Amino acid sequence: MSVEKSTVTIERAPINAAKAFDGGFVLTDDNVARLYGDLLKTAAKVCVVPHGEDSKTLQTAETVLREMAAARLDRKSRLIAFGGGVVGDLGGFCAAVYMRGINWINVPTTLLAQLDSSIGGKTGVDLTGYKNMVGAFHLPESVHICTDFLNTLPEREIACGLGEAVKTALLDENCMNVWTRYIDGGRKDFFALVESCARFKESVTNADFKESGRRKILNLGHTLGHALEYADGHKRSHGEYVALGILAEAGVSAGRGMLSEDSRKYIEEKVSPLIGDGKKSLWTKFSGAEIARAAMADKKNSDGKISIVVSERFRQTEYFLSEEELAAETEKWKSSL
Ligand SMILES: NC(=O)c1ccc[n+]([C@@H]2O[C@H](COP(=O)([O-])OP(=O)(O)OC[C@H]3O[C@@H](n4cnc5c(N)ncnc54)[C@H](O)[C@@H]3O)[C@@H](O)[C@H]2O)c1
Repeated sequence: MSVEKSTVTIERAPINAAKAFDGGFVLTDDNVARLYGDLLKTAAKVCVVPHGEDSKTLQTAETVLREMAAARLDRKSRLIAFGGGVVGDLGGFCAAVYMRGINWINVPTTLLAQLDSSIGGKTGVDLTGYKNMVGAFHLPESVHICTDFLNTLPEREIACGLGEAVKTALLDENCMNVWTRYIDGGRKDFFALVESCARFKESVTNADFKESGRRKILNLGHTLGHALEYADGHKRSHGEYVALGILAEAGVSAGRGMLSEDSRKYIEEKVSPLIGDGKKSLWTKFSGAEIARAAMADKKNSDGKISIVVSERFRQTEYFLSEEELAAETEKWKSSL
């Protein structure tokens, strides 16, 4: 069973979420189960996986699928994924393949999941060290975003979500206004930030569910961000690499004449509050050739060329570079740091 559109509710307290758990099969991770076990008392079955990216595997998916079968879920049943992006991707994938697809509900609990990964129906697991190699587009029937869950989120995970938030702000003027208010206001309240980013992603993914066109803009900063993350051995949060990727892609695109110098400076000014000057030096640890080689493994590549998204004052384009071109351009940009 699949739906064509998700209903997305955004609230502070988990009112809709608590209703969704009632009598349901809930998938969560050990951290979330420990923190929010009280909310799950009315669930029929709670399936708990270890937290972290290591749970996004076919082996864990098999364990979950076996538990779904043991709980006698049928084609009219639904799975409720309650956790961060890992639980959402894994749970959505299990729902997509169990009995050829059952409905599911997503209750995201991290900033990244609330403003980004819970929206748009991409589900999947990792394979042989590569992220999201096996998966399906399978929209949840509803997404219940409750920002109160963010009160318990560690600082590192907040930083991770902010990387995706600034990316969204660079794509959309309304999101940029909210981002600016969030930064200027002392970074206190997440509600407006989550709401603007989630609604923007909803509008983009509703218009291009299978990423054949406009949805690609959401990859801004991700080509070089992922390459740096891979080269650096995933030591920092994904969002930090995205922020660093946005900076580098802006530099490469300006060097290539694909972005004006004014816009490059604007992007740098908007991303800087997240990373500060110190972290930029991470780029100097790797050669342009190492980064370009890592970027060659990217799923977004086409005909052996590497995809880069440019956002020039809220208007986006995509262009492609060969491995050698990207190596040279990255080296050139690094020398300006
Ligand atoms: N499907 C998509 O469109 C999409 C988009 C972006 C990222 N992703 C995927 O999302 C995943 C990353 O998601 P993530 O950053 O949410 O990581 P995550 O799910 O691993 O959660 C991060 C950590 O926070 C803990 N946690 C979750 N909620 C908490 C809470 N309320 N309070 C305290 N701790 C809490 C988790 O147990 C975990 O240790 C990656 O696998 C990535 O590939 C998917």
